Amino acid sequence: MAKMWAGVTDGATAKIADDFNSSIHFDSRMYRQDITGSMAHAAMLASKGIISQADADQLIAGLEGILNDIESGKLPIDMECEDIHMFVEQVLTQRLGDVGKKLHTARSRNDQVALDVRMYLRQEIDDITDLIKKLLAAIVSKAEQYKAAIMPGYTHLQRAQPITFGHHLMAYAMMLLRDLDRLADCRKRMNISPIGCCALAGTTYDTDRNFEAEKLGFDGICLNSLDGVSDRDFCVELLSAISVLMMHLSRFSEEIILWSSWEFKFVELSDAYTTGSSIMPQKKNPDMAELVRGKTGRVYGDLMALLTALKGLPLAYNKDMQEDKEAVFDACDTVKMCLQVFCGMVETLTANTANMKLAAQKGFINATDLADYLVKKGLPFRSAYKISGQLVALCIQNGTVLEELPLETYQGFSELFDNDLYEAIDLYKCVEKRISQGGTSVASVEAQIKYVRENLQ
Ligand code: ARG
Repeated sequence: MAKMWAGVTDGATAKIADDFNSSIHFDSRMYRQDITGSMAHAAMLASKGIISQADADQLIAGLEGILNDIESGKLPIDMECEDIHMFVEQVLTQRLGDVGKKLHTARSRNDQVALDVRMYLRQEIDDITDLIKKLLAAIVSKAEQYKAAIMPGYTHLQRAQPITFGHHLMAYAMMLLRDLDRLADCRKRMNISPIGCCALAGTTYDTDRNFEAEKLGFDGICLNSLDGVSDRDFCVELLSAISVLMMHLSRFSEEIILWSSWEFKFVELSDAYTTGSSIMPQKKNPDMAELVRGKTGRVYGDLMALLTALKGLPLAYNKDMQEDKEAVFDACDTVKMCLQVFCGMVETLTANTANMKLAAQKGFINATDLADYLVKKGLPFRSAYKISGQLVALCIQNGTVLEELPLETYQGFSELFDNDLYEAIDLYKCVEKRISQGGTSVASVEAQIKYVRENLQ
């Protein structure tokens, strides 16, 4: 095919070179951004008298026609074209003749592609934000449902202190709130317009970059044209925000996988979000959670791929930068899919509160409360800690639990023990007493729920 850029060369590239060079099979998804960007460009050119208003009107109508025809399926995107930018310009010129050739005045594909990617990803951030909010709503409503359901809290995956399932779930809500914040922050720097930087050096035409930026909903313009066409920080920032988000989903997945094992049996996933085995009839596998965990590695890979592609690039544009799109599109597609599946999985899971309670009753997770009991009666914490540990050791020797030891045994360790110790180590009481801000008491979890709900508005 004749190349639009044929000039000093005849443009007669080898077929394999064309295939290698072309990006249309992954950048065609930006057709809408490309076309609306071009419409704003045509309007700017006319507003500055660089082309006539009549030409701009024709260009804009032509571009609108192309957009409609792509959207209705009337105009299939020609995968023989080098990229989406070339495709749109080529169709425009076919349809309008010489007027079509005026569109690329005071512009380069370098600032054009940077513009398109920013516009495309800005929308992706908005979509991902909506999905996170939906997931947050699902988590918060589960937390509300289980705000009093006692379970063991863990450190080192060893039973540590009693908490509620609601409290545990709200920990993930806090992570997701930070993810929203990171995305919003990333969007600020993304929403700066590179159009008008042209190939690298700016242009001799008297353009109005702010006119285009404003028309396209940007908050400002890139202030150095070399930087404007070579900056892909916004892609790296988005990939890193998505990587952190995936890391959160992956940790949550890992817990769901553990919790739904026979060893824990803390949660039951809905049949709609589990799979069976082709050979073992009893199996109910948490594939969705496992895949989210697995896809996290893939998203990290996207981040590393782009960071590595960029690290040695001299200014300004280099073709290596075409590699930005597959990485960032893949990460966005992946995280959107994961968020949707995750939301359904959380909405439909049920907690086995009896099993959680049972697990909480083993493992001496009220030993800290026993020590605190003595502290409140005047013993220094370290001494109280020691006595509490000795009592746990005694229980282990005799195959019993702190709740079952008779008062005389307690008093053999310290005279400060009295009958009220049993209330102090009651699991519900242990939870109820943790009223410190952010703690596990029902009141504290309710406050956390309220905070997140308010932030979602
Ligand atoms: N398809 C290219 C990309 O995605 C567009 C920019 C091409 N610019 C150039 N000077 N060859 O990066």
